[in-house]
Amino acid sequence: MSKVGDYNLTLGKSQYVPIVIGGMGVDISTADMALEACRLGGIGHISDAMVPFVCDKYFGTSFVASKGKANAAAPKFDKTNVKFNLDELAEAEKLYISKTMERKHGSGAVFVNVMEKLNMADSKGTLRARLNAALDGGIDGITLSAGLHQQSLKMMEENPRFRDAKIGIIVSSARALAIFIRSASRVGRLPDYIVLEGPLAGGHLGFSIDELAERNLTTILGDVLTFLKEKELQIPVIAAGGVFGGADAVKLLELGASAVQVATRFAITKEAGFPEATKQAYIRSNKEDVIVSGVSPTGYPIRLLKFGPCMGYNNLPQCNAFGYVLNDSGRCSYMDAYLAEGGEEGKPINDKICLCHHFSKYTCFTCGANVYRIKETLGKPDENGIYKLPTTEEVFNDYKNNAGIETL
Ligand SMILES: Cc1cc2nc3c(=O)[nH]c(=O)nc-3n(C[C@H](O)[C@H](O)[C@H](O)COP(=O)(O)O)c2cc1C
Repeated sequence: MSKVGDYNLTLGKSQYVPIVIGGMGVDISTADMALEACRLGGIGHISDAMVPFVCDKYFGTSFVASKGKANAAAPKFDKTNVKFNLDELAEAEKLYISKTMERKHGSGAVFVNVMEKLNMADSKGTLRARLNAALDGGIDGITLSAGLHQQSLKMMEENPRFRDAKIGIIVSSARALAIFIRSASRVGRLPDYIVLEGPLAGGHLGFSIDELAERNLTTILGDVLTFLKEKELQIPVIAAGGVFGGADAVKLLELGASAVQVATRFAITKEAGFPEATKQAYIRSNKEDVIVSGVSPTGYPIRLLKFGPCMGYNNLPQCNAFGYVLNDSGRCSYMDAYLAEGGEEGKPINDKICLCHHFSKYTCFTCGANVYRIKETLGKPDENGIYKLPTTEEVFNDYKNNAGIETL
């Protein structure tokens, strides 16, 4: 029986173990995790979500305080003029990327996940700053996510590393891919890889709640491979979402995927950014705890554990120092939901959650559909119900060498 380790992912002149650890923001797929994937010959992602905050945590910078101070005059519920300082944002991105890349060794690669839908009160300016600073910081590759990214390639066109770094996009359908390919053709720079994310993935989802039950990864993989063949494009497709073990991965590789992207099983590893108690809560979760919800102010459905502390939580919107979800007019639908409840502290806000608050505190328990099965891959818990957490290396090697666990 074949194993993932029998296959290779070829991107340009480089070959990798065909296992990609997906970006998990904010700082859930830590630099330590991504660097481990790289050391083991695969590809690891860091995420640039809330990168100024992440820099402050690791490098003693004070980007968040500086932004808060610059926006201190903004009225409590009017964030029209709240902005990010683009130079500081670029500095934070470059710092995070370059500090990560300095520590890199092994034959794999470290990529960064860059979400378009983090509008950051100036969707174009902040995205341009992040993308270019990631290239300047020496990242091996950029995975464009949470959006169609029709202008992202153009935004990087003048960067000296535009053709040297790998650039890929996450899509959930052949239709979305066709839109991106059209915009890529306009700048004469096709993606080096495509991550195809199916309905079982964690994080924000590229499907409406109604579509989720009707779609599956193997069918949309077929659609995308057919589209690429018709267009005579040879771009590796990395399949993602609910790939729970080696057997699932091999199945997708045999269907024509070039690699798999996996995340949920890594969210509870020692290297993951979540606090220990959260990792244990993920492992103890049951199937009925996993829901897909409309609470994210990004407008995308998000899969999460319904018992996570973010649900129904009330906190004053923190847009002066954070404000990652503010649109270009300074609105965030969490703020709207907060005001609709009377703008008072203490009342449960059920409609939306404050992503900035909960992702900075690790209290939004987003996960893939198979999270409740993680316990099957671990030893028995101790007498207090505590599971011994695996390392990134152990989970990576389980995908690579173990042909068991088919769930797809
Ligand atoms: C905790 C968690 C956080 C995630 N955060 C992001 C993110 O910030 N950006 C993104 O594009 N995808 C995100 N994802 C999606 C993953 O990168 C990945 O594509 C997907 O979860 C793979 O499916 P799996 O979790 O079933 O293995 C996240 C997934 C998880 C589990």
